[in-house]
Amino acid sequence: MAGRIPPEFIDALLARTDIVNLINSRVSLRKAGKDYQACCPFHDEKTPSFTVSPDKQFYHCFGCGAHGSAIGFLMEYERQEFREAVEELAQQAGMEIPVDGEGVRAGPDLRPLYDLLDQTAQLYRRQLRQHPSAPRAVEYLKGRGLSGEVAAAFGLGFAPPGWDFLLGTLGGSAQVRERLLQGGLVIEQDGRRYDRFRDRIMFPIRDRRGRVIGFGGRVLGDEKPKYLNSPETPVFHKGRELYGLYEAQQAKRRLERLLVVEGYLDVIALAQFGITYAVATLGTATSAEHLRLLLRAAPELIFCFDGDRAGRDAAWKALETALPLATGRQQIGFLFLPEGDDPDTLIRCQGRTEFEQHLDTATPLSDFLFDRLAAQVDMSSLDGRARLATLAKPLLDRVPAGLFRDMLGTRLAKLVGVARNRLDTGTGAGRRRTGSPEPHKRPPREWLVVALVLQQPRLAAQLAELDDDWKTLDQPGLKLLSELLERIAADPELTTAQLVHHLEDSLDEGYRHYLSRLTDPALLAGIPEAGRAADLCGAIKALNAEARDAKFELLCRRASLSELDDEEKQGLRGYRSDTRRDGL
Ligand code: UTP
Ligand code: MN
Repeated sequence: MAGRIPPEFIDALLARTDIVNLINSRVSLRKAGKDYQACCPFHDEKTPSFTVSPDKQFYHCFGCGAHGSAIGFLMEYERQEFREAVEELAQQAGMEIPVDGEGVRAGPDLRPLYDLLDQTAQLYRRQLRQHPSAPRAVEYLKGRGLSGEVAAAFGLGFAPPGWDFLLGTLGGSAQVRERLLQGGLVIEQDGRRYDRFRDRIMFPIRDRRGRVIGFGGRVLGDEKPKYLNSPETPVFHKGRELYGLYEAQQAKRRLERLLVVEGYLDVIALAQFGITYAVATLGTATSAEHLRLLLRAAPELIFCFDGDRAGRDAAWKALETALPLATGRQQIGFLFLPEGDDPDTLIRCQGRTEFEQHLDTATPLSDFLFDRLAAQVDMSSLDGRARLATLAKPLLDRVPAGLFRDMLGTRLAKLVGVARNRLDTGTGAGRRRTGSPEPHKRPPREWLVVALVLQQPRLAAQLAELDDDWKTLDQPGLKLLSELLERIAADPELTTAQLVHHLEDSLDEGYRHYLSRLTDPALLAGIPEAGRAADLCGAIKALNAEARDAKFELLCRRASLSELDDEEKQGLRGYRSDTRRDGL
Protein backbone atom coordinates (compact mmCIF):
# COMPACT_ATOMS: atom_id res chain seq x y z
CA MET A 1 0.00 0.00 0.00
CA ALA A 2 1.19 3.46 -0.81
CA GLY A 3 1.45 5.77 2.19
CA ARG A 4 -0.82 8.70 2.86
CA ILE A 5 0.31 11.90 1.21
CA PRO A 6 0.89 14.55 3.90
CA PRO A 7 -1.51 17.53 3.61
CA GLU A 8 1.40 19.97 3.77
CA PHE A 9 2.69 18.42 0.60
CA ILE A 10 -0.65 18.93 -1.12
CA ASP A 11 -0.47 22.59 -0.08
CA ALA A 12 3.00 23.01 -1.45
CA LEU A 13 2.07 21.20 -4.64
CA LEU A 14 -1.00 23.35 -5.26
CA ALA A 15 1.04 26.46 -4.54
CA ARG A 16 3.55 25.43 -7.22
CA THR A 17 0.90 24.46 -9.76
CA ASP A 18 -0.86 26.96 -11.97
CA ILE A 19 -4.38 25.72 -12.57
CA VAL A 20 -4.82 28.09 -15.51
CA ASN A 21 -1.86 26.55 -17.37
CA LEU A 22 -2.91 23.07 -16.44
CA ILE A 23 -6.45 23.46 -17.74
CA ASN A 24 -5.47 25.59 -20.71
CA SER A 25 -3.29 22.79 -22.05
CA ARG A 26 -6.42 20.64 -22.31
CA VAL A 27 -9.30 23.07 -22.74
CA SER A 28 -8.62 26.34 -24.49
CA LEU A 29 -9.32 29.20 -22.04
CA ARG A 30 -10.16 32.83 -22.76
CA LYS A 31 -9.50 35.68 -20.39
CA ALA A 32 -12.61 37.30 -18.93
CA GLY A 33 -11.91 39.95 -16.32
CA LYS A 34 -9.59 38.50 -13.73
CA ASP A 35 -10.76 34.95 -14.48
CA TYR A 36 -10.63 32.64 -17.49
CA GLN A 37 -13.52 31.01 -19.30
CA ALA A 38 -14.32 28.15 -21.66
CA CYS A 39 -17.20 25.95 -22.68
CA CYS A 40 -17.43 23.37 -19.95
CA PRO A 41 -15.57 20.12 -20.66
CA PHE A 42 -17.92 18.28 -18.31
CA HIS A 43 -21.24 18.99 -19.98
CA ASP A 44 -22.45 20.05 -23.42
CA GLU A 45 -22.98 23.77 -23.83
CA LYS A 46 -22.76 26.49 -26.44
CA THR A 47 -21.92 29.51 -24.29
CA PRO A 48 -19.05 29.30 -21.81
CA SER A 49 -19.98 28.91 -18.15
CA PHE A 50 -16.80 27.15 -17.07
CA THR A 51 -14.63 29.57 -15.11
CA VAL A 52 -11.08 29.22 -13.84
CA SER A 53 -9.88 31.56 -11.12
CA PRO A 54 -6.12 32.15 -10.82
CA ASP A 55 -6.66 33.74 -7.37
CA LYS A 56 -8.58 30.87 -5.91
CA GLN A 57 -6.71 28.27 -7.99
CA PHE A 58 -10.14 26.76 -8.50
CA TYR A 59 -12.43 25.98 -11.41
CA HIS A 60 -16.18 26.16 -11.34
CA CYS A 61 -18.89 25.59 -13.89
CA PHE A 62 -22.01 27.70 -13.43
CA GLY A 63 -23.86 25.34 -15.74
CA CYS A 64 -23.29 21.88 -14.26
CA GLY A 65 -21.69 22.71 -10.93
CA ALA A 66 -18.41 20.91 -11.65
CA HIS A 67 -15.65 22.45 -9.57
CA GLY A 68 -12.35 21.73 -7.91
CA SER A 69 -8.62 22.33 -7.68
CA ALA A 70 -5.90 21.30 -10.11
CA ILE A 71 -5.97 17.86 -8.51
CA GLY A 72 -9.74 17.65 -8.84
CA PHE A 73 -9.51 18.69 -12.48
CA LEU A 74 -7.13 15.87 -13.36
CA MET A 75 -9.31 13.42 -11.46
CA GLU A 76 -12.42 14.44 -13.37
CA TYR A 77 -10.97 15.19 -16.78
CA GLU A 78 -8.35 12.46 -17.02
CA ARG A 79 -10.30 10.08 -14.76
CA GLN A 80 -7.28 9.68 -12.55
CA GLU A 81 -7.27 8.50 -8.98
CA PHE A 82 -6.31 11.06 -6.34
CA ARG A 83 -2.80 9.68 -6.00
CA GLU A 84 -2.24 9.53 -9.73
CA ALA A 85 -3.27 13.16 -10.09
CA VAL A 86 -0.91 14.17 -7.30
CA GLU A 87 1.89 12.17 -8.89
CA GLU A 88 1.39 13.84 -12.26
CA LEU A 89 1.38 17.34 -10.79
CA ALA A 90 4.38 16.55 -8.59
CA GLN A 91 6.29 15.37 -11.60
CA GLN A 92 5.44 18.55 -13.52
CA ALA A 93 6.49 20.68 -10.55
CA GLY A 94 9.68 18.67 -10.06
CA MET A 95 8.63 17.67 -6.55
CA GLU A 96 9.13 14.38 -4.77
CA ILE A 97 6.16 12.95 -2.85
CA PRO A 98 7.45 12.47 0.70
CA VAL A 99 7.06 9.34 2.79
CA ASP A 100 4.45 9.87 5.49
CA GLY A 101 4.74 8.02 8.78
CA GLU A 102 4.84 4.26 8.42
CA GLY A 103 3.64 4.28 4.84
CA VAL A 104 5.93 3.11 2.11
CA ARG A 105 6.25 5.56 -0.74
CA ALA A 106 5.30 3.17 -3.47
CA GLY A 107 3.89 -0.33 -3.34
CA PRO A 108 5.50 -3.25 -5.14
CA ASP A 109 5.95 -2.77 -8.86
CA LEU A 110 2.80 -4.21 -10.41
CA ARG A 111 3.74 -3.64 -14.02
CA PRO A 112 4.93 -7.22 -14.65
CA LEU A 113 1.58 -8.49 -13.34
CA TYR A 114 -0.40 -6.15 -15.62
CA ASP A 115 1.78 -7.27 -18.52
CA LEU A 116 1.15 -10.92 -17.76
CA LEU A 117 -2.62 -10.38 -17.54
CA ASP A 118 -2.52 -8.59 -20.86
CA GLN A 119 -0.50 -11.39 -22.48
CA THR A 120 -2.99 -13.88 -21.11
CA ALA A 121 -5.93 -11.98 -22.58
CA GLN A 122 -4.23 -11.94 -25.98
CA LEU A 123 -3.45 -15.61 -25.72
CA TYR A 124 -7.06 -16.50 -24.91
CA ARG A 125 -8.26 -14.31 -27.73
CA ARG A 126 -6.00 -16.12 -30.17
CA GLN A 127 -7.29 -19.50 -28.98
CA LEU A 128 -10.80 -18.47 -29.95
CA ARG A 129 -9.55 -18.47 -33.55
CA GLN A 130 -6.86 -21.13 -33.50
CA HIS A 131 -7.37 -23.81 -30.94
CA PRO A 132 -8.66 -27.19 -32.18
CA SER A 133 -11.51 -26.94 -29.66
CA ALA A 134 -12.34 -23.35 -30.64
CA PRO A 135 -15.19 -24.13 -33.08
CA ARG A 136 -17.37 -25.24 -30.14
CA ALA A 137 -16.77 -21.91 -28.43
CA VAL A 138 -17.44 -19.91 -31.58
CA GLU A 139 -20.64 -21.90 -32.14
CA TYR A 140 -21.71 -21.15 -28.60
CA LEU A 141 -21.21 -17.40 -29.05
CA LYS A 142 -23.00 -17.43 -32.38
CA GLY A 143 -25.81 -19.38 -30.77
CA ARG A 144 -26.12 -16.60 -28.22
CA GLY A 145 -26.42 -14.13 -31.07
CA LEU A 146 -23.14 -12.32 -30.55
CA SER A 147 -21.54 -10.59 -33.52
CA GLY A 148 -17.83 -11.01 -34.20
CA GLU A 149 -17.52 -7.27 -33.93
CA VAL A 150 -18.82 -6.98 -30.40
CA ALA A 151 -16.84 -10.06 -29.33
CA ALA A 152 -13.71 -8.30 -30.53
CA ALA A 153 -14.64 -5.02 -28.88
CA PHE A 154 -14.91 -6.77 -25.52
CA GLY A 155 -11.82 -8.89 -26.20
CA LEU A 156 -13.60 -12.22 -25.75
CA GLY A 157 -11.39 -15.28 -25.75
CA PHE A 158 -11.29 -18.99 -25.11
CA ALA A 159 -9.47 -20.91 -22.40
CA PRO A 160 -8.86 -24.36 -23.88
CA PRO A 161 -9.64 -27.57 -22.01
CA GLY A 162 -6.81 -29.18 -20.05
CA TRP A 163 -5.09 -28.40 -16.76
CA ASP A 164 -1.95 -26.69 -17.91
CA PHE A 165 -2.51 -24.74 -21.10
CA LEU A 166 -1.54 -21.43 -19.54
CA LEU A 167 1.16 -22.89 -17.31
CA GLY A 168 2.67 -24.67 -20.28
CA THR A 169 2.45 -21.72 -22.68
CA LEU A 170 3.52 -18.82 -20.46
CA GLY A 171 5.01 -20.43 -17.34
CA GLY A 172 8.52 -20.95 -18.68
CA SER A 173 10.24 -19.48 -15.64
CA ALA A 174 9.67 -19.87 -11.90
CA GLN A 175 9.16 -16.11 -11.71
CA VAL A 176 6.33 -16.12 -14.23
CA ARG A 177 4.74 -19.19 -12.58
CA GLU A 178 4.67 -17.25 -9.30
CA ARG A 179 3.09 -14.33 -11.09
CA LEU A 180 0.43 -16.54 -12.70
CA LEU A 181 -0.50 -17.60 -9.19
CA GLN A 182 -0.46 -14.01 -7.91
CA GLY A 183 -2.74 -12.94 -10.75
CA GLY A 184 -5.28 -15.67 -9.93
CA LEU A 185 -4.77 -17.40 -13.28
CA VAL A 186 -3.35 -20.51 -11.73
CA ILE A 187 -4.51 -22.37 -8.61
CA GLU A 188 -2.29 -24.17 -6.16
CA GLN A 189 -3.67 -27.13 -4.24
CA ASP A 190 -1.85 -29.86 -2.35
CA GLY A 191 1.40 -28.60 -3.77
CA ARG A 192 0.18 -28.90 -7.36
CA ARG A 193 -0.58 -26.06 -9.71
CA TYR A 194 -3.15 -25.96 -12.49
CA ASP A 195 -5.00 -23.43 -14.69
CA ARG A 196 -8.00 -21.82 -13.06
CA PHE A 197 -9.90 -21.33 -16.32
CA ARG A 198 -10.42 -24.43 -18.46
CA ASP A 199 -12.74 -24.91 -21.41
CA ARG A 200 -14.49 -21.60 -20.89
CA ILE A 201 -15.41 -18.47 -22.86
CA MET A 202 -13.21 -15.76 -21.39
CA PHE A 203 -14.33 -12.22 -20.61
CA PRO A 204 -11.38 -9.96 -19.80
CA ILE A 205 -12.19 -7.42 -17.10
CA ARG A 206 -10.51 -4.07 -17.69
CA ASP A 207 -9.94 -1.20 -15.30
CA ARG A 208 -10.88 2.35 -16.18
CA ARG A 209 -7.60 2.84 -17.99
CA GLY A 210 -8.15 -0.22 -20.13
CA ARG A 211 -5.67 -2.51 -18.41
CA VAL A 212 -6.73 -6.14 -18.06
CA ILE A 213 -6.99 -6.86 -14.33
CA GLY A 214 -8.94 -10.12 -14.23
CA PHE A 215 -11.31 -12.47 -16.05
CA GLY A 216 -14.71 -14.01 -15.95
CA GLY A 217 -15.08 -17.40 -17.62
CA ARG A 218 -18.33 -19.07 -18.73
CA VAL A 219 -18.86 -22.76 -19.40
CA LEU A 220 -20.12 -23.72 -22.86
CA GLY A 221 -22.95 -25.82 -21.54
CA ASP A 222 -24.88 -26.35 -18.34
CA GLU A 223 -22.01 -27.41 -16.10
CA LYS A 224 -21.59 -25.75 -12.74
CA PRO A 225 -20.37 -23.28 -11.76
CA LYS A 226 -21.65 -21.33 -14.75
CA TYR A 227 -19.14 -18.55 -14.22
CA LEU A 228 -15.72 -18.52 -12.64
CA ASN A 229 -14.20 -15.16 -11.80
CA SER A 230 -10.70 -14.06 -10.90
CA PRO A 231 -10.15 -13.99 -7.14
CA GLU A 232 -9.07 -10.80 -5.37
CA THR A 233 -5.50 -10.04 -6.45
CA PRO A 234 -3.17 -7.06 -6.01
CA VAL A 235 -4.76 -5.50 -9.09
CA PHE A 236 -8.32 -6.86 -8.98
CA HIS A 237 -10.89 -5.88 -6.37
CA LYS A 238 -14.44 -6.94 -7.19
CA GLY A 239 -16.01 -4.33 -4.94
CA ARG A 240 -14.34 -1.54 -6.89
CA GLU A 241 -14.54 -2.63 -10.51
CA LEU A 242 -17.37 -2.49 -12.99
CA TYR A 243 -17.44 -4.67 -16.04
CA GLY A 244 -17.86 -2.57 -19.16
CA LEU A 245 -17.09 0.86 -17.71
CA TYR A 246 -13.92 1.22 -19.74
CA GLU A 247 -15.70 0.12 -22.91
CA ALA A 248 -18.58 2.52 -22.22
CA GLN A 249 -16.19 5.40 -21.77
CA GLN A 250 -14.38 4.43 -24.95
CA ALA A 251 -17.67 4.56 -26.81
CA LYS A 252 -18.51 8.02 -25.50
CA ARG A 253 -16.30 10.41 -23.61
CA ARG A 254 -19.07 12.28 -21.83
CA LEU A 255 -21.55 9.68 -20.74
CA GLU A 256 -25.07 10.96 -20.23
CA ARG A 257 -26.27 7.90 -18.42
CA LEU A 258 -25.09 4.56 -17.17
CA LEU A 259 -27.15 1.44 -16.90
CA VAL A 260 -26.21 -1.07 -14.23
CA VAL A 261 -27.09 -4.66 -15.13
CA GLU A 262 -26.20 -8.02 -13.67
CA GLY A 263 -24.32 -10.05 -16.22
CA TYR A 264 -21.36 -9.96 -18.58
CA LEU A 265 -23.55 -11.05 -21.44
CA ASP A 266 -26.14 -8.38 -20.67
CA VAL A 267 -23.49 -5.69 -21.07
CA ILE A 268 -22.26 -7.18 -24.32
CA ALA A 269 -25.68 -7.81 -25.88
CA LEU A 270 -26.75 -4.25 -25.03
CA ALA A 271 -23.59 -2.88 -26.64
CA GLN A 272 -24.23 -4.92 -29.74
CA PHE A 273 -27.62 -3.26 -30.10
CA GLY A 274 -26.24 0.25 -29.60
CA ILE A 275 -26.70 0.65 -25.87
CA THR A 276 -23.03 1.18 -25.16
CA TYR A 277 -23.50 2.56 -21.66
CA ALA A 278 -24.21 -0.57 -19.65
CA VAL A 279 -21.96 -1.89 -16.90
CA ALA A 280 -22.18 -4.87 -14.56
CA THR A 281 -21.01 -5.48 -11.04
CA LEU A 282 -18.97 -8.65 -10.89
CA GLY A 283 -21.37 -11.03 -9.19
CA THR A 284 -21.49 -8.82 -6.08
CA ALA A 285 -23.95 -6.30 -4.67
CA THR A 286 -23.40 -2.67 -5.65
CA SER A 287 -20.89 -1.23 -3.20
CA ALA A 288 -20.52 2.38 -2.09
CA GLU A 289 -17.25 2.39 -4.01
CA HIS A 290 -19.09 1.31 -7.17
CA LEU A 291 -21.61 4.06 -6.68
CA ARG A 292 -19.03 6.76 -6.23
CA LEU A 293 -17.38 5.66 -9.46
CA LEU A 294 -20.66 5.53 -11.33
CA LEU A 295 -21.90 8.89 -10.09
CA ARG A 296 -18.65 10.47 -11.09
CA ALA A 297 -18.84 8.97 -14.56
CA ALA A 298 -22.36 10.07 -15.56
CA PRO A 299 -25.17 12.33 -14.36
CA GLU A 300 -27.83 9.64 -14.62
CA LEU A 301 -27.74 6.14 -13.24
CA ILE A 302 -30.33 3.46 -13.87
CA PHE A 303 -30.24 0.18 -12.04
CA CYS A 304 -31.76 -2.71 -13.89
CA PHE A 305 -33.11 -5.52 -11.75
CA ASP A 306 -35.30 -8.57 -12.11
CA GLY A 307 -38.89 -7.86 -11.21
CA ASP A 308 -38.99 -10.82 -8.82
CA ARG A 309 -38.61 -10.70 -5.08
CA ALA A 310 -34.82 -11.24 -5.14
CA GLY A 311 -34.45 -8.46 -7.69
CA ARG A 312 -36.51 -6.05 -5.61
CA ASP A 313 -34.50 -6.87 -2.52
CA ALA A 314 -31.25 -6.32 -4.41
CA ALA A 315 -32.62 -3.00 -5.66
CA TRP A 316 -33.51 -1.95 -2.12
CA LYS A 317 -29.98 -2.78 -1.02
CA ALA A 318 -28.62 -0.62 -3.84
CA LEU A 319 -30.95 2.18 -2.74
CA GLU A 320 -29.68 1.98 0.82
CA THR A 321 -26.10 2.14 -0.42
CA ALA A 322 -26.99 5.10 -2.63
CA LEU A 323 -28.67 7.23 0.05
CA PRO A 324 -25.48 8.70 1.57
CA LEU A 325 -24.39 9.69 -1.93
CA ALA A 326 -27.73 11.04 -3.14
CA THR A 327 -27.43 14.78 -3.49
CA GLY A 328 -30.08 15.16 -6.14
CA ARG A 329 -27.43 16.42 -8.54
CA GLN A 330 -27.47 13.06 -10.30
CA GLN A 331 -30.59 11.16 -11.17
CA ILE A 332 -30.83 7.65 -9.84
CA GLY A 333 -33.55 5.37 -11.18
CA PHE A 334 -34.66 1.76 -10.95
CA LEU A 335 -35.97 -0.37 -13.76
CA PHE A 336 -37.68 -3.66 -12.97
CA LEU A 337 -37.75 -6.21 -15.75
CA PRO A 338 -40.62 -8.60 -16.41
CA GLU A 339 -40.04 -11.93 -14.71
CA GLY A 340 -37.98 -14.37 -16.71
CA ASP A 341 -36.39 -11.64 -18.83
CA ASP A 342 -32.96 -10.10 -18.59
CA PRO A 343 -31.50 -7.23 -20.62
CA ASP A 344 -29.86 -9.74 -22.95
CA THR A 345 -33.19 -11.32 -23.97
CA LEU A 346 -35.13 -8.04 -23.92
CA ILE A 347 -32.84 -6.06 -26.16
CA ARG A 348 -32.86 -8.88 -28.69
CA CYS A 349 -36.63 -8.88 -29.04
CA GLN A 350 -37.29 -5.17 -28.49
CA GLY A 351 -34.34 -3.45 -30.09
CA ARG A 352 -32.76 -0.25 -28.98
CA THR A 353 -35.60 2.24 -29.34
CA GLU A 354 -38.17 0.29 -27.40
CA PHE A 355 -35.65 -0.66 -24.73
CA GLU A 356 -34.65 2.97 -24.28
CA GLN A 357 -38.31 3.93 -23.94
CA HIS A 358 -38.43 1.56 -20.99
CA LEU A 359 -35.36 3.20 -19.52
CA ASP A 360 -37.11 6.54 -19.66
CA THR A 361 -39.83 5.16 -17.43
CA ALA A 362 -37.43 4.02 -14.69
CA THR A 363 -38.71 4.64 -11.16
CA PRO A 364 -36.85 7.55 -9.52
CA LEU A 365 -35.06 6.71 -6.28
CA SER A 366 -37.48 8.82 -4.24
CA ASP A 367 -40.55 7.05 -5.67
CA PHE A 368 -39.04 3.64 -5.04
CA LEU A 369 -38.20 4.66 -1.48
CA PHE A 370 -41.64 5.92 -0.54
CA ASP A 371 -43.60 3.34 -2.54
CA ARG A 372 -41.84 0.49 -0.85
CA LEU A 373 -42.22 1.95 2.63
CA ALA A 374 -45.86 2.88 2.01
CA ALA A 375 -46.56 -0.70 0.97
CA GLN A 376 -45.44 -1.85 4.41
CA VAL A 377 -47.99 0.22 6.33
CA ASP A 378 -51.70 0.96 6.21
CA MET A 379 -51.72 4.40 4.62
CA SER A 380 -55.45 4.84 5.27
CA SER A 381 -54.96 4.96 9.03
CA LEU A 382 -53.36 7.60 11.18
CA ASP A 383 -51.22 5.00 12.92
CA GLY A 384 -50.05 3.61 9.61
CA ARG A 385 -48.99 7.02 8.36
CA ALA A 386 -47.18 7.72 11.62
CA ARG A 387 -45.39 4.44 11.14
CA LEU A 388 -44.35 5.52 7.66
CA ALA A 389 -42.67 8.54 9.20
CA THR A 390 -40.86 6.29 11.67
CA LEU A 391 -39.66 3.98 8.91
CA ALA A 392 -38.56 6.80 6.65
CA LYS A 393 -36.75 8.90 9.20
CA PRO A 394 -33.57 6.81 9.57
CA LEU A 395 -33.36 6.47 5.79
CA LEU A 396 -33.79 10.19 5.14
CA ASP A 397 -31.19 10.92 7.78
CA ARG A 398 -28.65 9.06 5.67
CA VAL A 399 -29.08 11.47 2.78
CA PRO A 400 -26.55 14.33 2.93
CA ALA A 401 -28.10 17.52 4.28
CA GLY A 402 -29.20 19.71 1.41
CA LEU A 403 -31.87 20.44 -1.10
CA PHE A 404 -32.54 16.82 -2.01
CA ARG A 405 -32.99 15.76 1.60
CA ASP A 406 -35.27 18.71 2.20
CA MET A 407 -37.37 17.67 -0.77
CA LEU A 408 -37.64 14.12 0.53
CA GLY A 409 -38.66 15.54 3.91
CA THR A 410 -41.34 17.68 2.32
CA ARG A 411 -42.67 14.75 0.39
CA LEU A 412 -42.76 12.59 3.50
CA ALA A 413 -44.65 15.31 5.35
CA LYS A 414 -47.22 15.40 2.54
CA LEU A 415 -47.63 11.64 2.63
CA VAL A 416 -47.94 11.57 6.38
CA GLY A 417 -50.27 14.54 6.26
CA VAL A 418 -48.66 16.90 8.75
CA ALA A 419 -47.20 20.32 8.37
CA ARG A 420 -43.57 20.25 7.34
CA ASN A 421 -42.32 21.99 10.46
CA ARG A 422 -44.18 19.60 12.77
CA LEU A 423 -42.31 16.64 11.40
CA ASP A 424 -39.01 16.32 13.12
CA THR A 425 -37.12 14.22 10.63
CA GLY A 426 -33.98 16.22 11.16
CA THR A 427 -34.11 16.98 7.51
CA GLY A 428 -33.99 20.68 7.16
CA ALA A 429 -36.84 23.14 7.49
CA GLY A 430 -37.89 21.99 10.96
CA ARG A 431 -34.33 22.55 12.09
CA ARG A 432 -33.09 25.23 9.82
CA ARG A 433 -29.60 25.26 11.18
CA THR A 434 -28.64 21.82 10.03
CA GLY A 435 -29.56 22.59 6.43
CA SER A 436 -26.83 23.33 3.93
CA PRO A 437 -27.08 26.34 1.66
CA GLU A 438 -29.25 26.07 -1.40
CA PRO A 439 -27.46 27.25 -4.50
CA HIS A 440 -29.65 30.10 -5.66
CA LYS A 441 -31.34 31.27 -2.51
CA ARG A 442 -29.55 33.36 0.00
CA PRO A 443 -28.29 30.74 2.44
CA PRO A 444 -28.57 30.92 6.23
CA ARG A 445 -26.16 33.35 7.81
CA GLU A 446 -23.62 30.91 9.18
CA TRP A 447 -23.17 29.25 5.81
CA LEU A 448 -22.72 32.57 4.12
CA VAL A 449 -19.93 33.32 6.56
CA VAL A 450 -18.21 30.04 5.79
CA ALA A 451 -18.59 30.57 2.05
CA LEU A 452 -17.12 34.09 2.32
CA VAL A 453 -14.06 32.89 4.22
CA LEU A 454 -13.58 29.85 2.01
CA GLN A 455 -13.86 31.78 -1.23
CA GLN A 456 -11.93 34.81 -0.02
CA PRO A 457 -9.54 33.62 2.68
CA ARG A 458 -8.00 37.10 3.00
CA LEU A 459 -11.24 38.32 4.58
CA ALA A 460 -10.45 36.21 7.66
CA ALA A 461 -8.10 38.94 8.86
CA GLN A 462 -11.19 41.12 9.47
CA LEU A 463 -12.30 38.82 12.26
CA ALA A 464 -9.19 39.18 14.40
CA GLU A 465 -10.67 42.01 16.44
CA LEU A 466 -14.07 40.45 17.03
CA ASP A 467 -15.26 38.24 19.92
CA ASP A 468 -15.65 34.56 19.31
CA ASP A 469 -18.74 33.71 21.38
CA TRP A 470 -20.13 32.21 18.17
CA LYS A 471 -17.87 29.21 18.80
CA THR A 472 -20.24 28.05 21.53
CA LEU A 473 -23.13 27.77 19.07
CA ASP A 474 -23.83 24.21 18.04
CA GLN A 475 -24.11 24.66 14.30
CA PRO A 476 -22.27 22.46 11.84
CA GLY A 477 -21.34 25.39 9.63
CA LEU A 478 -19.57 27.06 12.51
CA LYS A 479 -17.40 24.05 13.23
CA LEU A 480 -16.28 24.33 9.68
CA LEU A 481 -15.64 28.03 10.14
CA SER A 482 -13.46 27.38 13.23
CA GLU A 483 -11.42 24.90 11.33
CA LEU A 484 -11.04 27.26 8.40
CA LEU A 485 -9.93 30.14 10.56
CA GLU A 486 -7.37 27.96 12.33
CA ARG A 487 -5.93 26.89 9.00
CA ILE A 488 -5.76 30.45 7.73
CA ALA A 489 -4.20 31.68 10.97
CA ALA A 490 -1.47 29.07 10.54
CA ASP A 491 -0.90 30.11 6.92
CA PRO A 492 -2.58 33.30 5.71
CA GLU A 493 -1.52 32.64 2.13
CA LEU A 494 -3.73 29.57 1.64
CA THR A 495 -5.95 29.60 -1.44
CA THR A 496 -9.49 28.28 -1.72
CA ALA A 497 -8.19 25.16 -3.44
CA GLN A 498 -5.73 24.43 -0.65
CA LEU A 499 -8.35 24.99 2.04
CA VAL A 500 -10.75 22.62 0.31
CA HIS A 501 -8.13 19.88 0.31
CA HIS A 502 -7.41 20.41 4.00
CA LEU A 503 -11.06 20.23 4.89
CA GLU A 504 -11.71 17.23 2.68
CA ASP A 505 -8.95 15.51 4.53
CA SER A 506 -10.20 16.23 8.02
CA LEU A 507 -13.97 16.22 7.59
CA ASP A 508 -16.30 13.29 7.44
CA GLU A 509 -18.48 12.54 4.40
CA GLY A 510 -21.43 14.66 5.48
CA TYR A 511 -19.36 17.80 5.63
CA ARG A 512 -17.57 17.15 2.37
CA HIS A 513 -20.92 17.53 0.74
CA TYR A 514 -21.31 21.02 2.22
CA LEU A 515 -17.90 21.93 0.88
CA SER A 516 -18.92 21.41 -2.71
CA ARG A 517 -21.79 23.88 -2.34
CA LEU A 518 -19.76 26.39 -0.41
CA THR A 519 -17.24 26.96 -3.17
CA ASP A 520 -20.01 27.90 -5.59
CA PRO A 521 -19.43 31.58 -6.49
CA ALA A 522 -23.18 31.93 -7.20
CA LEU A 523 -23.72 31.70 -3.46
CA LEU A 524 -22.09 35.10 -3.02
CA ALA A 525 -23.45 36.63 -6.19
CA GLY A 526 -25.82 38.85 -4.22
CA ILE A 527 -23.09 40.52 -2.16
CA PRO A 528 -21.08 43.20 -3.93
CA GLU A 529 -17.30 42.76 -3.68
CA ALA A 530 -16.91 46.00 -1.72
CA GLY A 531 -19.44 45.06 0.92
CA ARG A 532 -18.09 41.62 1.73
CA ALA A 533 -15.78 42.52 4.61
CA ALA A 534 -18.55 44.48 6.31
CA ASP A 535 -21.05 41.69 5.69
CA LEU A 536 -18.72 39.16 7.22
CA CYS A 537 -18.17 41.23 10.35
CA GLY A 538 -21.86 41.98 10.67
CA ALA A 539 -22.73 38.33 10.43
CA ILE A 540 -20.18 37.35 13.05
CA LYS A 541 -21.45 40.04 15.43
CA ALA A 542 -24.98 38.80 14.97
CA LEU A 543 -23.86 35.24 15.64
CA ASN A 544 -22.06 36.40 18.76
CA ALA A 545 -25.27 38.00 19.97
CA GLU A 546 -27.15 34.82 19.19
CA ALA A 547 -24.62 32.81 21.18
CA ARG A 548 -24.96 35.09 24.17
CA ASP A 549 -28.76 34.95 23.93
CA ALA A 550 -28.62 31.18 23.92
CA LYS A 551 -26.38 31.15 26.98
CA PHE A 552 -28.66 33.58 28.77
CA GLU A 553 -31.72 31.55 27.96
CA LEU A 554 -30.04 28.44 29.25
CA LEU A 555 -29.16 30.06 32.51
CA CYS A 556 -32.63 31.52 32.93
CA ARG A 557 -34.19 28.15 32.40
CA ARG A 558 -32.82 27.05 35.76
CA ALA A 559 -35.54 27.25 38.42
CA SER A 560 -33.94 30.05 40.36
CA LEU A 561 -30.76 31.99 40.63
CA SER A 562 -29.91 30.09 43.79
CA GLU A 563 -29.31 26.98 41.63
CA LEU A 564 -26.53 28.70 39.77
CA ASP A 565 -22.98 28.32 40.92
CA ASP A 566 -20.73 31.35 41.22
CA GLU A 567 -19.23 31.02 37.81
CA GLU A 568 -22.66 30.89 36.21
CA LYS A 569 -23.85 33.95 38.09
CA GLN A 570 -20.77 35.72 36.84
CA GLY A 571 -21.65 34.56 33.33
CA LEU A 572 -25.12 36.00 33.64
CA ARG A 573 -23.78 39.36 34.72
CA GLY A 574 -21.22 39.16 31.95
CA TYR A 575 -23.99 38.55 29.47
CA ARG A 576 -25.80 41.70 30.47
CA SER A 577 -22.74 43.88 30.21
CA ASP A 578 -21.76 42.28 26.88
CA THR A 579 -25.15 43.06 25.50
CA ARG A 580 -24.85 46.65 26.48
CA ARG A 581 -21.35 46.87 25.11
CA ASP A 582 -22.37 45.80 21.60
CA GLY A 583 -25.47 47.95 21.77
CA LEU A 584 -27.69 44.98 20.86
P1 UTP B 1 -26.56 -14.70 -14.53
O1 UTP B 1 -26.85 -16.07 -14.07
O2 UTP B 1 -27.70 -13.75 -14.73
O3 UTP B 1 -25.71 -14.87 -15.82
O4 UTP B 1 -25.52 -14.06 -13.54
P2 UTP B 1 -25.70 -14.08 -17.20
O5 UTP B 1 -24.64 -13.06 -17.18
O6 UTP B 1 -27.07 -13.68 -17.58
O7 UTP B 1 -25.16 -15.22 -18.15
P3 UTP B 1 -25.97 -16.16 -19.10
O8 UTP B 1 -26.87 -15.30 -19.88
O9 UTP B 1 -26.68 -17.17 -18.27
O10 UTP B 1 -24.89 -16.80 -19.89
C1 UTP B 1 -25.21 -12.70 -13.52
C2 UTP B 1 -23.78 -12.49 -13.13
O11 UTP B 1 -23.52 -13.11 -11.88
C3 UTP B 1 -22.19 -13.63 -11.85
C4 UTP B 1 -21.57 -13.26 -13.18
O12 UTP B 1 -20.89 -12.02 -13.04
C5 UTP B 1 -22.78 -13.12 -14.08
O13 UTP B 1 -22.54 -12.34 -15.22
N1 UTP B 1 -22.19 -15.10 -11.68
C6 UTP B 1 -23.24 -15.87 -12.06
C7 UTP B 1 -21.07 -15.71 -11.17
O14 UTP B 1 -20.10 -15.02 -10.82
N2 UTP B 1 -21.03 -17.06 -11.04
C8 UTP B 1 -22.06 -17.85 -11.42
O15 UTP B 1 -21.97 -19.09 -11.31
C9 UTP B 1 -23.21 -17.24 -11.93
MN1 MN C 1 -28.34 -13.98 -19.12
